[in-house]
Amino acid sequence: MKNIYYYYVVASVIVVVSLVLSLHINTNYNVPTIGADLLVTNGTIYTSNSSLAFADSMAIRDGRILRIGNYSFVKEVSGHGTKELNLEGKIVVPGFIDSHVHLLVGGLQMVRVELRGVNTKDAFIKKIKERVKNLKEGSWLLGGGWNNDLWGGELPSASWIDEVTPHHPVWLSRMDGHMGLANSLALKIAGVSNSMQDPVGGTISRNADGEATGLMIDSAMKVIISCIPEVSVEERRQALERASRYALTKGVTTVVDVGRYFPGAPVEHSWEDFSDVYKWADLSGKMMIRICLFFPMPTWSQVFDTVQTTGRKLSQWLYIGGVKAFADGSLGSNSALFHEPYADEPWNTGLQVTDMESLSNMTAQSDKSGLQVSIHAIGDKANDLILNMYHSVASINGKRDRRFRIEHAQHLAPGSAAKFGELGIVASVQPDHLLDDADSAVKKIGLERMQKGSYLFQTLLASNALVAFGSDWPVADIDPLNSIKTAVKRIPPGWDKAWNSAECMKLTDALNAHTISAARACFLDEDIGSLSVGKMADFVILTTQSWDDFMTQGTTSVAATYVGGVQAYP
Ligand SMILES: *[C@@H]1O[C@H](CO)[C@@H](O)[C@H](O)[C@H]1NC(C)=O
Ligand SMILES: *[C@@H]1O[C@H](CO)[C@@H](O)[C@H](O)[C@H]1NC(C)=O
Ligand SMILES: *[C@@H]1O[C@H](CO)[C@@H](O)[C@H](O)[C@H]1NC(C)=O
Ligand SMILES: *[C@@H]1O[C@H](CO)[C@@H](O)[C@H](O)[C@H]1NC(C)=O
Repeated sequence: MKNIYYYYVVASVIVVVSLVLSLHINTNYNVPTIGADLLVTNGTIYTSNSSLAFADSMAIRDGRILRIGNYSFVKEVSGHGTKELNLEGKIVVPGFIDSHVHLLVGGLQMVRVELRGVNTKDAFIKKIKERVKNLKEGSWLLGGGWNNDLWGGELPSASWIDEVTPHHPVWLSRMDGHMGLANSLALKIAGVSNSMQDPVGGTISRNADGEATGLMIDSAMKVIISCIPEVSVEERRQALERASRYALTKGVTTVVDVGRYFPGAPVEHSWEDFSDVYKWADLSGKMMIRICLFFPMPTWSQVFDTVQTTGRKLSQWLYIGGVKAFADGSLGSNSALFHEPYADEPWNTGLQVTDMESLSNMTAQSDKSGLQVSIHAIGDKANDLILNMYHSVASINGKRDRRFRIEHAQHLAPGSAAKFGELGIVASVQPDHLLDDADSAVKKIGLERMQKGSYLFQTLLASNALVAFGSDWPVADIDPLNSIKTAVKRIPPGWDKAWNSAECMKLTDALNAHTISAARACFLDEDIGSLSVGKMADFVILTTQSWDDFMTQGTTSVAATYVGGVQAYP
């Protein structure tokens, strides 16, 4: 009896197993494993990959590019349920990578007093007066983006706004983020007195009587900023969402975020943002763009420990880039460090905001731990100091693929551009800054230096340097299409010719600088930066079918932005 039951059970098992198997085979038959999720066809796809610079179609599966080429080749991987998007001839480019943004600052600034573009003293005061009306007495009025060059150069002072803000402390950062204006109430709260010493790496601007004017330069900004109540976690999370959404409207799918950090700022901010905002957003599925984070260099060992435990890639959305420090300030604030003095301040050659010995020590240690190092340098002397320091650290630590970065590299001494190529140093530059600097540069550094040494994009490229584009948002607007056009044309507003036409870039070089080169510059080129098989399907559809339109009409914009093969905008 036992044996019969035994055979009965075995037979049933065989029947069930073969049923399951046949179902399985059937399923496989209906949906070939090769099937793409989406075919993007009939376009002009610029790939940023020279092995196939242009294509008309691509196939996407699981967020990555499965095939790219002509229609019939791509169509072969079409299967049950594959969608097709006909581009009707429109141009597609890889998702833009912005190599230098302050993402949360940008997101916060979007809801504060926006002084970008304000071009008279009256308009400046009016904006403050209007905004203060709806603000609870005693709470801080915050804003930024002002540029004194737009109203002739005179720097603002507390006296401009004291009358309209008697009961509100005010802090308004200059558009370059290296200077800010406090009103008298804010100065009082911060305890700024005539006898207060300038902090190292900063200046408290004073009038002839030694009284603070309200302007705080570079690390002196922290005197005021440390009195402003912390931005709440909720506000910062909203800022991330707002900023990401805005970036997508401009075709930006990845940013290198250099944080809320400025010279002398509390380094803990970056770490609070990392855990409370970025990791939170990543774990709760709220990331919309890919973000590569750089942390303040003094915390390099914490970055090292974090990379040891989580790796550089926390998810397909969040990456740890490396560490960042400052060599100098900015041109607009007369704090960029030059070999020769400022034309409008013959006693001033700028500020070295970090001492070279500790900078060089931290760089050596970070590099030895395998971290990528990035340093802000704007003036020609700051750039030379960092180039030499990078050179000596590299020769001590030995050969490796380190991709040292210089952020801005705006003004270079004769021969210095070539060193970027020779030493393999990334020039992380922001073309749109040349639009803002055009009229003030002549006053600050004179025609000769301005013509020969500023924004040397083409010379850098020709020297084989890796040139990566960014915006420095919110210092300039986040807008890759505009920065590409700027790099190609170099025509500032109100000018009828290029600022040094020898430095104009080719369109494809400029596109590469915002895509594949930017990806290499932050070690993300295995995943993004070009439309190539295996890479993430991050791409941008433009509103135009022709590059001529793009360059001449100024009407081309982003029609749609896709991240990982999924439409993220509009
Ligand atoms: C370019 O495409 C080729 C062929 O798919 C691939 O082997 C190569 O890695 C790609 N290069 C880049 C920079 O994406
Ligand atoms: C389409 O692309 C495939 C693969 O690259 C190639 O073999 C084929 O010749 C191409 N067809 C046409 C019509 O260009
Ligand atoms: C491709 O787009 C063009 C517009 O540029 C249109 O005239 C053509 O019909 C489209 N071809 C296909 C096969 O959809
Ligand atoms: C830099 O490192 C050297 C050797 O490790 C050490 O002697 C020196 O004190 C350090 N300097 C600073 C400013 O950290």
